[in-house]
Amino acid sequence: MDQVNDSVVTEFVLLGLAQSLEMQFFLLLFFSLFYVGIILGNLFIVLTVIFDPHLHSPMYILLANLSLIDLSLSSTTVPRLIYDLFTDCKVVSFHNCMIQMFFIHVTGGVEMVLLTVMAYDRYTAICKPLHYLTIMNPKMCVLLVVAAWVIGVIHAMSQFVFVINLPFCGPNNVGSFYCDFPRVIKLACMDTYGLEFVVTANSGFISMGTFFFLIVSYIFILVNVRRHSSNDLSKAFFTLSAHMTVVVLFFAPCVFLYVWPFPTKSLDKFFAIVNFVVTPVLNPAIYTLRNKDMKVAMRSFVQCYFRNRL
Ligand SMILES: *[C@@H]1O[C@H](CO)[C@@H](O)[C@H](O)[C@H]1NC(C)=O
Repeated sequence: MDQVNDSVVTEFVLLGLAQSLEMQFFLLLFFSLFYVGIILGNLFIVLTVIFDPHLHSPMYILLANLSLIDLSLSSTTVPRLIYDLFTDCKVVSFHNCMIQMFFIHVTGGVEMVLLTVMAYDRYTAICKPLHYLTIMNPKMCVLLVVAAWVIGVIHAMSQFVFVINLPFCGPNNVGSFYCDFPRVIKLACMDTYGLEFVVTANSGFISMGTFFFLIVSYIFILVNVRRHSSNDLSKAFFTLSAHMTVVVLFFAPCVFLYVWPFPTKSLDKFFAIVNFVVTPVLNPAIYTLRNKDMKVAMRSFVQCYFRNRL
């Protein structure tokens, strides 16, 4: 599949996930079910939060934003992944490859900042309860969400501008089932050590730093919960452990994919699937199954819907 030297690469070859027919069907079922779950679950959270006035608190508004981002993050890779299960020649055009990388990093960057904002929201609610409503006012909420988008775009752009201009002339096998900076950079026909460092720093070190910062923050908040609140204890523990689970499952793969210096294909695949398929389904799963406010809101949402239909 490799192209002849000196020619310009116009398409990249992706790696297939399945070797056998049985595996193809199993993966088709697995990814389709998860993707439908991701779409329905996250849309359901967004709609419930928008239409239920009881859920118009910063915590749920941020949760709805996170759901939207989860849905987008997953949509950058999973539809293509499902489509590729059944094509023998998994080629992706140069442009689509670039577009995919760009949106993975915009949505990934926004998600990273949103998770930090959500931690800050919980910190304020639990450690500074008297000032919570003045600090996390609607204006602040909008500001933080806008900041998340701006940072996400800057994060993606700061890597993209370098990669879009790289010369590609030789091998074009990405060696993964989706396009991403570390893999694509390696295919450029020039010395890319400097650029590899930019990507490792921008995607790897930042996610590693944010990860440790968030874990320490949540431990700090947990310690404070024990000291302060009395009746809301179990509710706070629920929310915090839900957030921590999402944080671990989102950041651990990022750190591995961008920082770990010895890439192994099977582990790479596994971590990428966790990031694009498992994490995005987590919020709906956690919040619809265990959270009382959400359950009440959803029940009235569904009842209202059927009352109007019947
Ligand atoms: C996301 O956050 C913004 C700013 O607070 C809010 O106006 C918007 O409704 C949120 N989006 C969703 C889908 O809830």
